[in-house]
Amino acid sequence: MCMASSLNFSVIILAAGKGTRMKSPLPKVIHPVAGQPMIYRIVDAASKAGALETRLVVGAGSKLVQRVVEPLGASCFFQEKQLGTADAVASAEPGNLEGPVIIIGGDHPLMTSRDFEWLVKEYNKRECQLAVVSCEVDEPGSYGRIVRNHGKLYSIVEAKDASADTLKIKEVNTGIYVMDAEVLNKYLPKISNENQQNEYYFTDIISLSLEGGESVDAIIGEAHMAQGVNDQEQLAAASKSVFSRKASELMKEGVIFVDPERTYIEDDVKVAAGTVIYPGVYIKGPSQIGSHCVLEPNVFIEKAQVGDSVQLKAGTYLNDCTIEKGATLGPYAHIRPQTEIGEDCKIGNFVELKKTKMGKGSKASHLAYLGDAEVGENVNFGCGAITVNYAVDKKKYKTVIEDEAFVGSDCQLVAPVTVGKGAMIGAGSTITKDVPENALAVSRSKQIVKENYQPKAPSNSKPKH
Ligand code: UD1
Ligand code: CA
Repeated sequence: MCMASSLNFSVIILAAGKGTRMKSPLPKVIHPVAGQPMIYRIVDAASKAGALETRLVVGAGSKLVQRVVEPLGASCFFQEKQLGTADAVASAEPGNLEGPVIIIGGDHPLMTSRDFEWLVKEYNKRECQLAVVSCEVDEPGSYGRIVRNHGKLYSIVEAKDASADTLKIKEVNTGIYVMDAEVLNKYLPKISNENQQNEYYFTDIISLSLEGGESVDAIIGEAHMAQGVNDQEQLAAASKSVFSRKASELMKEGVIFVDPERTYIEDDVKVAAGTVIYPGVYIKGPSQIGSHCVLEPNVFIEKAQVGDSVQLKAGTYLNDCTIEKGATLGPYAHIRPQTEIGEDCKIGNFVELKKTKMGKGSKASHLAYLGDAEVGENVNFGCGAITVNYAVDKKKYKTVIEDEAFVGSDCQLVAPVTVGKGAMIGAGSTITKDVPENALAVSRSKQIVKENYQPKAPSNSKPKH
């Protein structure tokens, strides 16, 4: 990425806080926002923006956090005691950094790579040594307040330490800063813990560097940058924002939503124009949906490739499978891993498929199970029919059904078994031996009829209750 690398910035992410307000056994930054751990999102955004280096300050639950971020190239620094945000920054050992450094909390999951790029560019334009990203909010609550003097940034005052007048200020500190590494290293050691909380506040770097004669500035950011996550409600709100952003992007590309606020499509999902998405649809990535598809309510998709003009009727569940164009599935079809459904297939209600390949135009329209099966083209697999793929030796065996075969209702095909091309299996049969091409196989006990089996009721008797 030539454009990104020209920005030459580093990132320090603070994520050692315990996150007690989450009331959850998970470390705060591991909580998922729209399917991805918060910390994954922010590290990924920094790296996509071309950060030279990303350092993460970790504390409680650090092993889990490390597992998520190290594959993305970030390095972790341990903060032993949570003495405050300035102590956290110092834990990242910034002494050997150069150029612009962005400092940000790990609980800002809505930051995008574009936001990182924008921030470095804004900072470069202003020619200041230190900038804080601020934001106007209606309910400033517990955010640090941006105090200005004659319009110029003067200091940041924590809500807990603020006077009633200061608390009225609506311009707040997002907790995102950008500064030259040299300025950071000059003033960071000067921060003390003389405040209400006896914490080392990183925010004090503003007034300290002003006193030192540096030029500081507040860059006004978009509202989503201030949207942090401190409790479960804010976590859910962050997921909602990400899903809503994704729906907007897709609508701009011509995807049709019945109610975009009630659809959940993760970032790593592609949907082509002209596809209709009903409420309650959840798509996890990586997945791809073709054009002119219809995804009815409560369809759940994970890791699937879906071709054009596919109809997924209500309640259908796809996991790790491929559906080719023109197929119709559901309502309530369950498609499990390693299944490939061919063009124009019809998979009806309450049909389950696992590790099965269905050829073009084949049908299993009602209440059926196909596991470890290879099904040819234009096969009809009847209502209630199943493959018996699991044997007493606890191994799975394969069923092969060749083109044009017809498996009647309520049959059991006991694997390993092959049904030849054009063969027909009579309803209710249990098939344990291969059936040759064009043959008819029936395996069911003969019907016995015993006439006058029940004693005849006298013609004038009343029905019993
Ligand atoms: C901080 C800012 C506040 C700002 C708000 C925005 C300070 C003193 N205040 O407040 O002005 O409006 O963010 O969200 O910085 N952390 C550590 N180690 C510590 C303490 C914190 O790693 O010892 C991490 C936390 O995990 C978190 C981030 O630093 O990711 C911010 O800490 P938090 O305690 O949430 O600060 P706020 O009170 O929200
Ligand atoms: Ca916070």
